[in-house]
Amino acid sequence: MQTYMEVFGHLPTMLTPRLVLRPVRMSDAEDMYEYSRDPEVARHVLWDAHQSIHQTRGYIRFLLRQYRNAAPGTFAIALRDSGKVIGTIGFMWVQTDNRSAEVGYSLSRAHWNHGYMSEALNAVVEFGFTKLGLNRIEAQHESDNPASGHVMANAGMKFEGTLRQRIYNKGRYADVDLYAIVRSDFMKKS
Ligand SMILES: CC(C)(COP(=O)(O)OP(=O)(O)OC[C@H]1O[C@@H](n2cnc3c(N)ncnc32)[C@H](O)[C@@H]1OP(=O)(O)O)[C@@H](O)C(=O)NCCC(=O)NCCS
Repeated sequence: MQTYMEVFGHLPTMLTPRLVLRPVRMSDAEDMYEYSRDPEVARHVLWDAHQSIHQTRGYIRFLLRQYRNAAPGTFAIALRDSGKVIGTIGFMWVQTDNRSAEVGYSLSRAHWNHGYMSEALNAVVEFGFTKLGLNRIEAQHESDNPASGHVMANAGMKFEGTLRQRIYNKGRYADVDLYAIVRSDFMKKS
């Protein structure tokens, strides 16, 4: 098994039936700005809608730095048929001692409710267990963003509870629902 740093230093490209998950490139800026500027996409995430493509480029520079530093990384989500980047999914953090990690994601509103994020999260969960050797992968969503909870459940994650007023986001305290999948769940599922 490779170390976390070896894997994150060379993030692979993964194919799902309809998607390509691959490292982000600076040339993705236009596609990523197209949805990152949408306040509806940003409503339940911890970043604000981008005001200009310069902000998107700044975010991509951060992601490229994460690759260079072999830090927990993020995949671009591109459509296999057109190559268009419609979102991102990646690891927020990895705890080496506990072999656990958190995943986060966002998708262009034009592509919601086609099963794309469930497809992407399933692939990233499999990557986490088989390539990173994780024991636990968690994800959390604001309780008033139930679609994200469905995505987590579709990837085999189990609801573990609601963390009341866990975060202050966009002017209000938000309850957060915590989901996780552990290695033994994954072995049963696959
Ligand atoms: C949340 C998000 C990732 C979902 O992506 P997606 O590709 O549309 O998700 P999928 O199509 O794979 O699955 C959506 C699920 O939510 C359900 N859903 C959609 N809208 C819903 C709503 N208003 N209430 C309850 N469930 C809803 C769908 O029925 C589907 O569940 P099912 O497969 O059990 O039927 C996407 O909407 C998004 O990026 N939103 C903005 C950013 C964000 O919220 N990121 C997550 C932060 S935790």
